[in-house]
Amino acid sequence: MNTILFELYASAVDTMKICKQLGYELGEIDIRQFPDKETYIKINSDIINRQVIFVASIDKPNNKFLPLLFAAGTARELGAEKVGVIVPYLPYMRQDKQFQPGEGITSKYFASIFSQYFNWMITIDPHLHRRHSMSEIYTIPTYVLHSTTPIANWIKANVSDPIIIGPDMESEQWVAEVAKGAQAPFIVLEKTRKGDREVEVSLPKIDEYKTRTPILVDDIISTGKTMIETVKHLNHLKMKPPICIGVHAVFSGEAYSDLLNSGAEKVVTCNTIKHQSNMIDISDLVVNCLIENING
Ligand code: R5P
Repeated sequence: MNTILFELYASAVDTMKICKQLGYELGEIDIRQFPDKETYIKINSDIINRQVIFVASIDKPNNKFLPLLFAAGTARELGAEKVGVIVPYLPYMRQDKQFQPGEGITSKYFASIFSQYFNWMITIDPHLHRRHSMSEIYTIPTYVLHSTTPIANWIKANVSDPIIIGPDMESEQWVAEVAKGAQAPFIVLEKTRKGDREVEVSLPKIDEYKTRTPILVDDIISTGKTMIETVKHLNHLKMKPPICIGVHAVFSGEAYSDLLNSGAEKVVTCNTIKHQSNMIDISDLVVNCLIENING
């Protein structure tokens, strides 16, 4: 099937590389707002009987999600045979249970709408915590890729004597893998979240690692509070200033500068969301997944 790829919202992933390596055409699409803030969509490329792929960064999703759905709807209307989507960062994964009576489980509603518009999805390290598989809420084939190898490679190439640190139990899944790939030890802390912007982390027992460079690894950096609290503890313990690695550079408000100012040596992220801290390229993961699963 002849495939055409459309990039929405200035993707951080290298779409040119994807097109070049897979022989895809890069399509042309106009998305703009009418004066009343409704969305205008126009696909300018021929897509009849073709597989259409959208690459869309949908962090801070409320203004981006509806245009993405409209783009998918337009593609179908114009005769696309299949419509797939690459969302390097998948939002609305964290509200995965009712923490308080009356709360909505938005991850479920989001997945339900999403699944109606696309034939398949590729995403990187979605926040699977209480859910074990995407198929619990997504009804389309979902290819979940992991950034652990590119992160481990970055550490190996850039840091000597690292100790990999996960700020909470949820992070253990990727921290353990990153540590294995980087051939480094790891520890995982205990975190208590007291509110949207307030977290506490336990004092780690890290005396034996004092001479190593601490590398904090987490999936999402949003308010930055999780990382900031951990950086403060490490500073208190007279560890070296840590390098903070996040897969997804969500960075709400001033989170990036707050984290740098908290005593971090450096903040490094993967290019799932466009940001100045993007230093770890995950485009090859996407290319390989397309070759193995979609390009048939
Ligand atoms: C926890 O659920 C996640 O793995 C991250 O630790 C969390 O999203 C980080 O959020 P923040 O930067 O707001 O502390």
